[in-house]
Amino acid sequence: MAIRKIITEDDQTLYKVSRPVTEFNERLWQLIDDMKDTLKKADGVGLAAPQVGVLRRLFIIDMGEDGVVEVINPEIIEKKGKQEDVEGCLSCPGEYGITCRPNFVKIKAQDRYGKEYTLDGEGLSARCICHENDHLEGIIFKKHVIRMLDPDELIG
Ligand code: NI
Repeated sequence: MAIRKIITEDDQTLYKVSRPVTEFNERLWQLIDDMKDTLKKADGVGLAAPQVGVLRRLFIIDMGEDGVVEVINPEIIEKKGKQEDVEGCLSCPGEYGITCRPNFVKIKAQDRYGKEYTLDGEGLSARCICHENDHLEGIIFKKHVIRMLDPDELIG
């Protein structure tokens, strides 16, 4: 396991569309394990492969009690409701804005062995799934921002 460098918004890699994961092998597992270490060290909620410079459709999310979920080749199959809340990104350090996201999403994805599963996300998890899924399309959260926060509005 190793810490990978998280690229920032000035890197054009973040604006490219990622390709599907096709090989579920040791190399993929190494990448996922490195991303887990990287997310933990950065103290973030989610991390997408493009953020570590790998243009593959893969992200991880810290779902709290359910642990870190590995999401490969995801597809959002259901969206419900709306929420407005503060959002940030490890690739845009120190910057936060208000975005509007669905309050509930259901996705279909694969695990590290290629097995299909579905995952429901509500509230913060739904927000996070949408945010990370956007990274796979080359979209960063600022595209959805209704209003960026001033530094003096940041709490904690
Ligand atoms: Ni992000």
